[in-house]
Amino acid sequence: MLETVDLQVSYGAVRAVLGVTLSVGPGDVVALLGANGAGKTSTVRASAGLVRAAGGKVRWEGQDVTNWQPHRLVRAGLAVVPEGRRVFAPMTVEENLELGAFTNRSAASRKDLKSEMYDMFPALAQRRHIRAGLLSGGEQQMLAFGRALMSKPKVVMMDEPSIGLSPVMVDRVMRAVADIGGLGIGVLLVEQNAIMALAVAQTGIVLERGKCVLSGDSESLRNDPGVVAAFLGDSVIRDSPESSPSAGRKGGKLRETSGPADPPASTRNDDP
Ligand SMILES: Nc1ncnc2c1ncn2[C@@H]1O[C@H](COP(=O)(O)OP(=O)(O)OP(=O)(O)O)[C@@H](O)[C@H]1O
Ligand SMILES: [Mg+2]
Repeated sequence: MLETVDLQVSYGAVRAVLGVTLSVGPGDVVALLGANGAGKTSTVRASAGLVRAAGGKVRWEGQDVTNWQPHRLVRAGLAVVPEGRRVFAPMTVEENLELGAFTNRSAASRKDLKSEMYDMFPALAQRRHIRAGLLSGGEQQMLAFGRALMSKPKVVMMDEPSIGLSPVMVDRVMRAVADIGGLGIGVLLVEQNAIMALAVAQTGIVLERGKCVLSGDSESLRNDPGVVAAFLGDSVIRDSPESSPSAGRKGGKLRETSGPADPPASTRNDDP
């Protein structure tokens, strides 16, 4: 459904993405992995029309949609859960959900969608009239998922949904990712915590300095000693103390996985 072919992104002289090819079909969960600055967010943003693709193509259901306006891509069925969640702190949970449904003019169907979201994320139902800025980081992540799902997407790109959350919330967020895939929605799951992402995804792609350096099914990526040493080392040490010493080699390039507890995250919401 969503494909990028040799996608390239530049910021002036900075070449952030140097040819990324990936594809996400209905119900696929695809992990997009890589260290800080590897080009994951740039890949997502260019796919969503939020930054210009400098080269290559974005295809949607076979059609060339490269550099389409973001709202047009949302209407086509491509949603983004952005890096840092970006919920609108002064607005209520319900109002944030409503925003996600801007493509949908029918009040009745927006209402149905909202009750689906409340069924899926009961914590949001209890807090529907609370300002989003007062929610914990994990609740805000659920809200960001809900808001994206309100556009009835066929594919959702999620940029590091687990970052900064407590282990319990990370678990819940990852379960929600799997559930969303289970609904037949394609998911591009951007993560630095490769072990966790590959536990949910069926396939994975590893970016290094803007290029795909590895791809394959999750099982083989998890077991590939080269991958473990180069990309998963840190996560293996942290997540599986029982893993073999060679698998746990130091020098993994991934960010810390277990964030702080799950505090109110109002300070993180700098959106209007
Ligand atoms: N707006 C920008 N202007 C200039 N350079 C940028 C901009 N955004 C990203 N970059 C650069 O592009 C490269 C890729 O960044 P990107 O944010 O896509 O990586 P990432 O894999 O998402 O990293 P992270 O894990 O830190 O989120 C980096 O070198 C980054 O410094
Ligand atoms: Mg990023």
